[in-house]
Amino acid sequence: MFLKNNSKIPLDRFINKVLYNKNNGYYMNKNPIGHKGDFITSPNISIMFSEMISIWLISFWEKLGCPKKINVIELGAGNGEMMFQILKTVERFNKFNSCSNFIIYEKSTYLKKIQKNKINFKNIKWLNNLKKIPKFPSIFIANEFFDALPIKQFLKRNNNWYEKYIINKDKSLNFFEKKIKKDFIEKLIRQKIQRNQKFIEYSPLANEKLNTISKIIKKQNGGLLIIDYGYKDKKMFDTLQSVKNHKKNFLLENIYKSDITHLINFDFFIKRIKNLEIDSINLTTQREFLLKMGILERAEIISKNMPFSKKSDIYFRLKRLIDKKQMGTLFKVLFATNKKNNFNLGF
Ligand SMILES: C[S@@+](CC[C@H](N)C(=O)[O-])C[C@H]1O[C@@H](n2cnc3c(N)ncnc32)[C@H](O)[C@@H]1O
Repeated sequence: MFLKNNSKIPLDRFINKVLYNKNNGYYMNKNPIGHKGDFITSPNISIMFSEMISIWLISFWEKLGCPKKINVIELGAGNGEMMFQILKTVERFNKFNSCSNFIIYEKSTYLKKIQKNKINFKNIKWLNNLKKIPKFPSIFIANEFFDALPIKQFLKRNNNWYEKYIINKDKSLNFFEKKIKKDFIEKLIRQKIQRNQKFIEYSPLANEKLNTISKIIKKQNGGLLIIDYGYKDKKMFDTLQSVKNHKKNFLLENIYKSDITHLINFDFFIKRIKNLEIDSINLTTQREFLLKMGILERAEIISKNMPFSKKSDIYFRLKRLIDKKQMGTLFKVLFATNKKNNFNLGF
């Protein structure tokens, strides 16, 4: 039984249990990424995505003054494809490569095993505690990491606020709304709730991670690059979704067998990061970022002498990444760093 009869838990604890329960959790037992899985991510669509990230990393390192030691940390590495391609790409950039400590921060022991099998390079480590990364300038990269963290949901009805819970009533899972004080929510999210705001999504875990990361960046220098799907409106709405076999799934069905994600509210993230005193923030779409990083030129170079079928495959994949109707505008890129770094390549 997922929940004891007549008991209830808040939505974030429900998501945490479904996705990350040690024994049955969705991310703890399978590789969800790819055609045979439930969804696909940019690094698994085209190698060019990770190549663009690699060039961005090297340029940022140069802008930081080519420090002799730098940490490059990937948050939530899935099947390890992006880190694998980054390491392959930077092999050709000796100086940067020899200065870099590559680190993966990953919760799932099952995915960690897949990553370790795949990434057969020497200069990479896995760390379970962000506070233990070596004390060098640090660049954090998070592709579809924050959308996988559990969220709470609050809704306003007839001037009252409620928190969403999941209840087991007569052996069937249902939603339940528990009355909650507005003050409590404001304290938790560390922001005043605007009058026209009727719905709030908030991830305590994302906030905790942003806290830790911003402290490291402030102390040791570096930056955070977030690539994720989301929107920038001040007004929040219900973005929770469950996905199975590349199709939508009802949240309370196929427990442990389907993914649960949400859209990032970038307006909220930016405010939060500014409060944490990482004062230079850039935001753009995945399309703009990749185009500015030169993905079209890269596609031209690698497809030059290829037969038509391979060439069209490269451009088909490129289109998925940058097309406005596909991942191009729904996916955003956020870069946060100290103002003094004055780096904005790709934005
Ligand atoms: C949607 S997948 C994205 C994978 C990869 N970045 C990609 O783009 O293909 C989310 C990843 O974050 C990991 N993850 C989720 N919560 C985590 C946490 N609290 N700490 C570390 N990793 C976490 C998951 O296990 C998974 O590897």
